[in-house]
Amino acid sequence: MNEKKLVDAAILAREMAYTPYSGFQVGAALLTESGKIVLGCNIENATYTPTNCAERTAFFKAVSEGERKFTAIAIVGGKAGESIREYCPPCGVCRQVMMEFCDPESFRVILAKSPEEWKIYTLRDLLPLGFSSANLDGKGESL
Ligand code: THU
Repeated sequence: MNEKKLVDAAILAREMAYTPYSGFQVGAALLTESGKIVLGCNIENATYTPTNCAERTAFFKAVSEGERKFTAIAIVGGKAGESIREYCPPCGVCRQVMMEFCDPESFRVILAKSPEEWKIYTLRDLLPLGFSSANLDGKGESL
């Protein structure tokens, strides 16, 4: 799977964003180990707190359909009605959800500014010292 295909899918997903409050539209395209792409958009709410980010929408859709192994996610974001201008890094909560299902050393987070311009990070880059089930089992990194 090439990065451009995943970025294009995230751009498409962004069009579904439901953002009457912030007007900030985010799209995510999550790649499963089996090669499937699961799309997600942010979904806001009049009471604000239940708002779900695009990345978590993609993860929760995928997991609820039996997918548990992921290799990459592409993310794009920007104001409604405008083309994407800046990179949209995932929020801390979404990074933690990624940590639950992905190997931080190999899972790739692709942040795109346009269909031709993107940067690739590992989850480890974005969430150093992340907490995972290994910590609950007493097998976390020794500091
Ligand atoms: N948002 C995402 O969907 N993903 C992120 O990583 C950052 C923020 C959404 C949540 C909210 O609907 C809007 O962007 C403004 O914060």
